[in-house]
Amino acid sequence: MKTTTAKATRRLKDLPGPRGWPLLGNVLQITPTRIHLDLECWASAFGPLFRVRLAGSTLLVIADHELLAEVMRDRPDGFGRIQLNRGTGKQMDLTQGVFYAEGDDWRKQRRMVTASFAPGHVRAYLPSLVTVTLRLRSRWLKAVRAGASIPLQADLMRFTVDTISGLAFGKDINTLEAGDDICQVHLEKVLKVRFRRLMSMVPYWRWFKLKSDRDFDHSVAVINATVRDYVAQARQRLRDDPTPKDQPRNLLEAMIMASDEPDSGIDDQHVAGNVLTLLIGGEDTTANTLLWMIYLLHRNPDALRRAQQEVLSVAPDPASYSMEHMERLVFLEACANESMRLKPVVPFTLLEALRDTVVGDVAVPRGTKVCGLFRHDSVSERWFERPEAFEPQRWLEEGPHPLTVDSKRAMMAFGSGPRVCPGRYLALLEIKMAMAMLLSTFDIEAVDTPDGGPAEEHITFTMQPVGLRLRLRERQAR
Ligand code: HEM
Repeated sequence: MKTTTAKATRRLKDLPGPRGWPLLGNVLQITPTRIHLDLECWASAFGPLFRVRLAGSTLLVIADHELLAEVMRDRPDGFGRIQLNRGTGKQMDLTQGVFYAEGDDWRKQRRMVTASFAPGHVRAYLPSLVTVTLRLRSRWLKAVRAGASIPLQADLMRFTVDTISGLAFGKDINTLEAGDDICQVHLEKVLKVRFRRLMSMVPYWRWFKLKSDRDFDHSVAVINATVRDYVAQARQRLRDDPTPKDQPRNLLEAMIMASDEPDSGIDDQHVAGNVLTLLIGGEDTTANTLLWMIYLLHRNPDALRRAQQEVLSVAPDPASYSMEHMERLVFLEACANESMRLKPVVPFTLLEALRDTVVGDVAVPRGTKVCGLFRHDSVSERWFERPEAFEPQRWLEEGPHPLTVDSKRAMMAFGSGPRVCPGRYLALLEIKMAMAMLLSTFDIEAVDTPDGGPAEEHITFTMQPVGLRLRLRERQAR
């Protein structure tokens, strides 16, 4: 492959990049909650391969999607994820799953996780998705009838928390009707601290702990114990009431079944780690993609009208949603793709070279930290006509600017290569179901930002619009 056979003509230090301060490098020029915008802005100035200096180390930034795809294909052997806790000794952290696994350990965990997302299994998960969608509908009907606006991010998080918890824990958590779940509250705290640590230049918590770090340890212990318990309970349920082998009722059962296959190499600790990984990977990402999609559709009335017409003719009744209904919502899926092209909720990836290699024409020594930017090319005129416009029909190869196979590849919202997001079909299913419910039951009156201007992009764990409130009107049968 190109990364290993290409000839290097430059070294990292030959690359262009922003001027920084002695010792600190570019650290002070980066705002953690806007880091993707800082990097994208530098990519416009310095081109598709540049370097950023962070205190003692150099980060190679790749903005060209073809080069990035090559790097991401060279996993797990050539590149791995930057590890949050590498070199920190036995830090207290959540039980890890496929996301942070590497090498053969990743291969066997990935096999199990992929098996749990098999199309036949996802079909069996549909009834629990419909139940949660109907609860979101009731919640919004109540708000509309009380004349209240809807805190969109909070409500969509409850929607995805309930769907993914149902599938990953095999438990009906029901935060939409019953209020916060304690494990979820701990998880939110842990994710906030983890993001702060990832962005922190000095890993002080290795040597001393602030109160927030001690709270972090406590939350981690509670979550790990809860998840271990869920796995044990699911095993017991499977013993008491075995389901047919090809019909697991949720992701947890599917993973337990896959782990029980001879030579799977998987134990209950791996299963627990992946329950958590699916929970973490499947909540913010899907909720924030939905958030951006609602925001963008509201600002593009023609697309909104077409999406609503499609829903009303294909899937007018949320109570009877089936896989076939969802598969026929092709324009709605194009709207999801177009939203992810413009607003990828994971706008970059952080990797590390596991051996000496070459990227493009640059020699990359083992241990080099690499940042891949997902949005540089997906909003570039080189790959998309009128790249700034929200034109879902381009994904259906209709209209004035149909996409080519090559330009479709420039959209990498789900990553790329062997570690591409295994939850992408489930995510699209959830997105289409929630949107179909919204468009069949309500008309969107307004999507308000805090200051009335365009929604600001803000990264906490994933990239989200700040403070959107939704005002809906109940649709009358026409
Ligand atoms: C719109 C929603 C989602 C987006 C935008 C998204 C995006 C991503 C991205 C960019 C990656 C990194 C891929 C790579 O390294 O090549 C990833 C990995 C992953 N995602 Fe998602 N994701 C979404 C939903 C989900 C859902 C619903 C689940 C599970 C319930 C999930 C589970 C995972 C897992 C387990 C990985 C790690 C895969 C590995 O390392 O082998 N994601 N996702």
